[in-house]
Amino acid sequence: MDETKLMDFVHKAVSDVGSVLAGSMVVIGDRLGLYRAMAGAGPITPEELASRIGATERYVREWLGAQAAAGYVVYAGDGRYELPDEHAIPLTDETSPACVIGAFETALGAAQATDRIADAFMNGEGVFWGDHDPHVHTGCERFFRPGYVNFLSQAWIPALDGVEERLRTGIRVADVGCGHGASTIHLATQYPESTFVGFDAHGASVEAARKRTAESGVGDRVTFQQATAKEIEGQFDLIAFFDCLHDLGDPVGALVAARDHLTDGGTILIVEPMAGDRVEDNLNPIGAAYYGFSTLLCTPNSLSQEVKAALGAQAGEARLRAVAADAGLSQFRRVAETPFNIVIEARP
Ligand SMILES: C[S@@+](CC[C@H](N)C(=O)[O-])C[C@H]1O[C@@H](n2cnc3c(N)ncnc32)[C@H](O)[C@@H]1O
Repeated sequence: MDETKLMDFVHKAVSDVGSVLAGSMVVIGDRLGLYRAMAGAGPITPEELASRIGATERYVREWLGAQAAAGYVVYAGDGRYELPDEHAIPLTDETSPACVIGAFETALGAAQATDRIADAFMNGEGVFWGDHDPHVHTGCERFFRPGYVNFLSQAWIPALDGVEERLRTGIRVADVGCGHGASTIHLATQYPESTFVGFDAHGASVEAARKRTAESGVGDRVTFQQATAKEIEGQFDLIAFFDCLHDLGDPVGALVAARDHLTDGGTILIVEPMAGDRVEDNLNPIGAAYYGFSTLLCTPNSLSQEVKAALGAQAGEARLRAVAADAGLSQFRRVAETPFNIVIEARP
């Protein structure tokens, strides 16, 4: 027994206990506007911060202690705390690709299902996405939207062969597994000549997507339908799967359906979590987050549906290529990537 190694691990584990609790602290900081009140405010006392948001000072002081110990805010001395600008952006700016708020909301929502998922380990049952705490659904929307807003029309669409031009001229687009429609609505705002249909198996997500669309003023060209990936209706020139193919029980069946509903010369766009092909490629902080999300959310969802392929959020490009080939998509190419995503173009 190497005592040093043992103590190193205990220190790491205790720090992870702080991280688990930091998740709750971050969601509280976001929900109550604590971070927004601290952004740009310079060193501030718990009393000042509490009065800015109308909260109870004693809670705010304890929260600041936890946040300073975890390195989210800085203790400036003299009973004052500061949120550095470099921390304020990831914690408050939902237009920035650096925004992490949605990931925390998703993680905390997903953790509500811990008991249920532990049971599922033993009975082998799945858990449908829609049966999770609603913070999973709003958190996911907030987690992914900054990526769509910053990369979709700027980098991912232009990387596809000939698609940008066609979107500008006016084509029909399907967004399969659209969730709250963050990608659908963003595409609609960028390409005003095209029309969009979002499909999702979860009724409440479809309702939320309709509400967001009405608020965003693109309702004349965007519709949503509650349907599984294999039940989509209509013919489309572009069919997109944003961060959802690996969640599906039958990803091959979903891509076969997409192929059947694709016009001649059409394109399938698949955006998936960043991952290498081997477990050892993913043993890093992004892999730790995605394997965790996958254990609580993606794998249980797939196991709740027919075929139960359970690709997992860290499937990797080679596995995705094999799925596409099984669905008769012989053209498959990685066209872009970010630290969090792989972007793939596929065609029959
Ligand atoms: C990780 S979320 C991604 C949502 C959305 N694409 C986004 O980027 O915000 C996965 C989505 O797939 C949906 N889903 C799960 N199984 C499905 C199925 N068989 N057919 C269609 N949608 C499904 C879920 O309801 C959920 O909205």
